[in-house]
Amino acid sequence: MTPHDTHTRSGMRFDTDHRDIGLDPRHVYARGLTSRRLRAVDDRGLEMGMGVKRWLEPASRDDDILLAHCTRNTLDVGCGPGRLSAALIETGVSALGIDVSAEAVELARLRGATALRRDVFACVPGQGRWPNLLLADGNIGIGGDPVALLRRVQTMLAPGGRAVVEVDPPGIGVSCRMIRLEVDELVSSWFPWARVSADSISDLAEQAGMSFAGLDQRADRWVALLDRRMP
Ligand SMILES: C[S@@+](CC[C@H](N)C(=O)[O-])C[C@H]1O[C@@H](n2cnc3c(N)ncnc32)[C@H](O)[C@@H]1O
Repeated sequence: MTPHDTHTRSGMRFDTDHRDIGLDPRHVYARGLTSRRLRAVDDRGLEMGMGVKRWLEPASRDDDILLAHCTRNTLDVGCGPGRLSAALIETGVSALGIDVSAEAVELARLRGATALRRDVFACVPGQGRWPNLLLADGNIGIGGDPVALLRRVQTMLAPGGRAVVEVDPPGIGVSCRMIRLEVDELVSSWFPWARVSADSISDLAEQAGMSFAGLDQRADRWVALLDRRMP
């Protein structure tokens, strides 16, 4: 990402003139995983929650709202250190985690998950054959263009397949911003990220050509269920 990149895959525009002198975000993320601290700041200077400690721990009861919907072979996109993939495997559901971070993939494997270093927008195993696909912990933000990501998700799902997508509580709508990661003295370059709230996901699913099958909610966790639409 350069400082003046202003468009994304589905044409959403970013307007930023931040000087891009930071490190590769994967490098800063890897430091965050080892130091168990990580901040994300957007281009308005607002901090976004990063649950790095939670990601490094085993899946908790709070994660059941996601896991309960992953009943068939699951592609865990942006699996991080793999707590959800590992939990699925423990309950007998076959799961593959993919992530662009080599360190995250290594940690996921160490905890018993099957994980590969892959970019969700590049070649992914089992293209068009995944019964379930998981976007947890805000991963609907990957790439900063949720419609483009959902279009990609649709191509990875099997006929009859369902995506399980964690979203923000209702209220914020769709927010597409440039963000950067910070930990200790390390600062990443800016990269696009999105947030989507529960009351906006059905519109985005429609734009991406997916079918909105409903929402599930427990405490502050909200999950949207999006089905591959048959031609
Ligand atoms: C918010 S964290 C998700 C944490 C993870 N769900 C967990 O249980 O630890 C976002 C993750 O998405 C990964 N990621 C970012 N862009 C990606 C891409 N294009 N393809 C695959 N993974 C990506 C990051 O490396 C990071 O691990």
